Amino acid sequence: MKKILLLTSGGDAPGMNAAIRAIVRTGYYHDLEVFACHNGYQGLVDQDIFQIRRENVAGIIQHGGTLLKSSRCQAFYKKDVRDKCCRFLKKKGIEGLVIIGGDGSFRAAAILESEGGSKSIGIPATIDNDIVGTEYAIGFDTARNTALQAIDKIRDTAYSSNRYFVVEVMGRRAGFLAVDVAIAGGAEYILTPEFPISVGKLAKQINAPRRQKQSLIIVVAEADKPGRSMDIVKRLRKLTPFEYRVCVLGHIQRGGSPTVMDREIGSRMGHLAVEALLEGKTNAITAIQDSHLTLAPFPGHESPYRQLENQDLLKLGEVLAT
Ligand code: F6P
Repeated sequence: MKKILLLTSGGDAPGMNAAIRAIVRTGYYHDLEVFACHNGYQGLVDQDIFQIRRENVAGIIQHGGTLLKSSRCQAFYKKDVRDKCCRFLKKKGIEGLVIIGGDGSFRAAAILESEGGSKSIGIPATIDNDIVGTEYAIGFDTARNTALQAIDKIRDTAYSSNRYFVVEVMGRRAGFLAVDVAIAGGAEYILTPEFPISVGKLAKQINAPRRQKQSLIIVVAEADKPGRSMDIVKRLRKLTPFEYRVCVLGHIQRGGSPTVMDREIGSRMGHLAVEALLEGKTNAITAIQDSHLTLAPFPGHESPYRQLENQDLLKLGEVLAT
């Protein structure tokens, strides 16, 4: 293998730059030519690639987002578009791809290879931490720290004004972010996509004399409806006698300087991805399993994303809030 191409795809996540830097530096260490795509798969479709050099990745490790930019590329669903991409990769002599992104991005890489494209290794990156095959995806730690800082601040004002707050965090299909920040922030209730609680049931719990407080925090994962905490609060106002405010943290959680964990894991995964390609591996992601860095197969269609497996942390939150 002489030439590899890297791209960042899907929702950006803090720590992607650490992975980019590690891929580039490891590539040149092994005398590879390293290319990069702008704007995720869209860059491949547009043939917008360039040779990325060691100096291009100097001074990026501390920055959130992705130097290369990212996108959710709809055009890539079309076979004729992918055929063109395969021909382009062949013409350029690119034999290996490193995709930093989520499960959809890895599925696209697998399809591309099966249609004649390059071998590919994925690096899991999403603040939702919901990628099958790995306990950790780049960006999660930074996002949970960002959300936690916000919750700590909300706690100050909630206490001072005797208010109940609903704080909405990201997490479309999984509640990993919600449970971690709720436990660490001492929140009283946690709503996740995996274990939904009806507003009626939540109101009953809030009204129960042994759980009443002057102020409290309910952490809600956005699930499939960002902003859903507005509706929840509307209904809670009718069912309980307390004063509520809503705070939707939104995309603040996606940005910011990556934590040590995201820089370190991003660097190690970037390095492993290149080593894996050089060993001829393909259709695999760099993964953390039992706290060790390893490779795992691309997530399949049978269980496309990872979710909370049990309610242990939700129960812990409940016990600690009483
Ligand atoms: O990257 C994952 C995620 O942040 C989800 O938690 C969220 O639902 C989604 O991306 C938001 O996507 P977009 O930035 O495209 O609105």
